[in-house]
Amino acid sequence: MVGKPKVFVTRVIPEAGLALIREACEADVWSGELPPPEAVLRAKVADCDGLVSLLTDRIDAALLDAAPRLKVVSNFAVGFNNIDVAAATARGICVGNTPGVLTDATADMAFCLLIAAARRVVEGHLHVQAGRWKTWEPLGHLGQDLVGRTLGIVGMGRIGLAMARRCRGGWGMRVLYHDRIRNEQAERELEAQLVDLDTLLREADFVSLHADLNEQTRGIINAAALRKMKPTAILINTARGPLVDQKALTEALQTGIIFAAGLDVTDPEPPDPDDPLLRLPNVVIAPHIASATVRTRNAMAEICARNLLAGLRGEPLPAWVNPEVAGRRR
Ligand code: GLV
Repeated sequence: MVGKPKVFVTRVIPEAGLALIREACEADVWSGELPPPEAVLRAKVADCDGLVSLLTDRIDAALLDAAPRLKVVSNFAVGFNNIDVAAATARGICVGNTPGVLTDATADMAFCLLIAAARRVVEGHLHVQAGRWKTWEPLGHLGQDLVGRTLGIVGMGRIGLAMARRCRGGWGMRVLYHDRIRNEQAERELEAQLVDLDTLLREADFVSLHADLNEQTRGIINAAALRKMKPTAILINTARGPLVDQKALTEALQTGIIFAAGLDVTDPEPPDPDDPLLRLPNVVIAPHIASATVRTRNAMAEICARNLLAGLRGEPLPAWVNPEVAGRRR
């Protein structure tokens, strides 16, 4: 390669990563507040060797076909459902992500949403803000206790395990989990029990979603699933919005099929401002900020940069989504 490799970075990411990228590459960094429109992204990648993408950028086969020199897509996220990984692999393109460094921040957010929904914190705050706080009410604002309850983790990976540790260690919860694969560490350490989804939905007081979004998990929490949950149950989603049928969730929250929900992700993002879900008192919604701490985002930026540079240099990516591409990289 003559000169520095050309890369497009679809948003300003922390300097901890950008500095590494700028030092080694000719970097075009999109400075817009919103993601680059699809046509812009397509034009930008046409002569790029590397791409840093966000979860808001759709990297599909058509985009990859518009990037004949592209060697690597480095996603600034642990989730990579925005990327057609099979299409990248078929074209000899490496894909990287940012696992590990955001585990604790994300589990903290899941727990934060759980306790906020269980204790109706946001509803209480809005009540105070609206000047409706008249007196101490023996029967007002009653929520759910957390101690000794049953947690159901859907997707017992790194983040699911970290959430379960918090709930087991701090609040003595019984842990059930549902996953395609057994997590022996969770079973050993937390006495977690692998169960089918129906059992988890029926028995858990709190259901926390930590699964990847793929064709098997899309809509896993639909109307039928919600009906299996307890009327006192709380649903937490810090994974991906489309795991949940949002209309069905809205109805379940309106009609008391479940008690409350805490969401860091929605479908779509952002939700339509007129979506009735936004008006419900028993839902707490954060704007997809589970990894948004200074230390976590810096660490994500650094891994993201290291993945990009390794992809450009023909080296193994430190966090490699498709290592099967190794023998036939571009
Ligand atoms: C955020 O949602 C991520 O996947 O990192």
